[in-house]
Amino acid sequence: MRTLIIHESLFGNTKAVAAAIKQGLSRGKAPDHVEVVRADEAPGVIPDDVSLLIVGGPTHAFSMTRESTRKDAETKGASEHVRTGIREWIDTVLPKPDLPIVTFDTRVKVKLLPGSAAKSAVRALRARGFRRVEQGETFWVEDTDGPLRAGELVRAEEWGHDLASRADLRPGATAAR
Ligand SMILES: Cc1cc2nc3c(=O)[nH]c(=O)nc-3n(C[C@H](O)[C@H](O)[C@H](O)COP(=O)(O)O)c2cc1C
Repeated sequence: MRTLIIHESLFGNTKAVAAAIKQGLSRGKAPDHVEVVRADEAPGVIPDDVSLLIVGGPTHAFSMTRESTRKDAETKGASEHVRTGIREWIDTVLPKPDLPIVTFDTRVKVKLLPGSAAKSAVRALRARGFRRVEQGETFWVEDTDGPLRAGELVRAEEWGHDLASRADLRPGATAAR
């Protein structure tokens, strides 16, 4: 079975987190085949051999990115031009109600700054018809363009490893939450 890590990244930090999560997921005893996929290349119809989705992106304006915030990021020097982010992918993907999905995001640790892309993605995925969605981790960046805070890539890898060992996320497991 396969795990897809669907992500977007303007400055490269979320992309690095996605790669670290993949490392962690691949460390299990009998690892799934894990692929890191950009949102603009993610399938609109999720293939039957995919048993787990991990969906993550940067937090922009307290939520998932949108075209206007991505333009803002470009004016701030973003290295990537993203036309389809996770918001747009969620809007068009064919729902699979029983497929487990865990979300994650990156954001800046500023006191009293609410909202996260991971939380918004959960809401959007549920509204789209996915029933087994949970909010996963936030990984912290120092500033808009990064870098990731010290230790975050190790934490992302460990988190991936933890996900790989969860019985309720294995193929055939029924919803535990
Ligand atoms: C237009 C814009 C809006 C942002 N809004 C928020 C926000 O509401 N909360 C937050 O914590 N970080 C915010 N950030 C910082 C991003 O979360 C940060 O750039 C991102 O985590 C970096 O990930 P990336 O390198 O994968 O693009 C914003 C960044 C941009 C460019």
